[in-house]
Amino acid sequence: MSSILTGITTSGTPHLGNYIGAIKPSLIKIKKAKRSFLFLADYHSLIKQQEPELTHRSSLEIASAWLACGLNPKKTFFYRQSRVPQIMELNWILSNTTSKGLLNRAHAYKAAVDLNQEKKIKDLDKGISAGTFNYPILMAADILIFDAEIVPVGSDQKQHIEMTRDIALRFNHIYGETFKIPEAHISRDIPLLSGTDGRKMSKSYKNYIELFANEKELQKAINKIVTDSLLPGEPKKTKDSVLFNYFKAFSSKEFLLEVEKMFLDGKGWGDLKKELFTLVNKELKIYREKYYHYLDNSNEVEKILIEGENKVSSIAEKKLSEIRKKVGIRALDEK
Ligand code: ADP
Ligand code: TRP
Repeated sequence: MSSILTGITTSGTPHLGNYIGAIKPSLIKIKKAKRSFLFLADYHSLIKQQEPELTHRSSLEIASAWLACGLNPKKTFFYRQSRVPQIMELNWILSNTTSKGLLNRAHAYKAAVDLNQEKKIKDLDKGISAGTFNYPILMAADILIFDAEIVPVGSDQKQHIEMTRDIALRFNHIYGETFKIPEAHISRDIPLLSGTDGRKMSKSYKNYIELFANEKELQKAINKIVTDSLLPGEPKKTKDSVLFNYFKAFSSKEFLLEVEKMFLDGKGWGDLKKELFTLVNKELKIYREKYYHYLDNSNEVEKILIEGENKVSSIAEKKLSEIRKKVGIRALDEK
């Protein structure tokens, strides 16, 4: 029985990757948790894009997706990062114990630098915001303020959790035992879901399949998934197949064996895509109506979030006052 926490950045419409990598496994894991925290990383969203309407809309969409998929706000702390100011305060405190060198090694920052290098831009930091560089510290603050022990995420987030552990250990070393050291839980059986173009499905690449696309849109998006040009009747490889990757994410073990056989037997890509549509649609259609209900009733979602925020604020404040004292920020007459 541990304490579980995870967040999704509100920088776009929830997609199948978010569902497979974060929403579904988290909702399963929290059933056995002592405490659970699921939140909208809306300040992280500003790092990825600067479209106010997108951040605002995405917050409603992602909150609605969590609720539609079964998050019970009576049992789980459900909130917006931006409404828990203690997280931002901790972000600053941690900035002072975290070495710049650690941040230099973050994949996202390194990738941005590499891109500049590739483009032969002299200033390797050109166009990279301080927010991008500091991203891992805010993520550490999200996790450490609530003493979370388990963080279920997709494998792309593994390094961020490792950094959170380093950040916590360093703070503990300087100021004494303060933070629990969290662990990433990355489901081994669930691969990172690819986008329709074969790269990682991501809001940033616009290669995603919307989680709650209607049936027609879903089939259309699935039809766009890249395949090779093998014809019906020709055996297809499951290894490195983007389409098979989707089957892996959505099938039971038994059905996956059947799918493997379909590939080997040379079922045509068109038929395999229909098969995939049926599978994905069966899982999602039970949630779709609820999702659209919440989208149309943003006041209900707002109320649920405010209740969650009221609850977590006192937990965050308790932890932060302990931290403030440790670093020497306390009333002048307090020993
Ligand atoms: P995006 O890359 O679209 O901006 P986020 O970074 O907000 O997505 O990810 C939110 C959660 O969803 C994280 O736990 C992340 O690991 C997971 N996730 C995102 N994309 C995928 C994917 N393609 N496959 C599996 N999990 C994913
Ligand atoms: N960085 C995560 C992502 O883009 C979202 C996130 C922010 C998060 N803070 C977190 C995930 C804390 C887990 C725990 O996917």
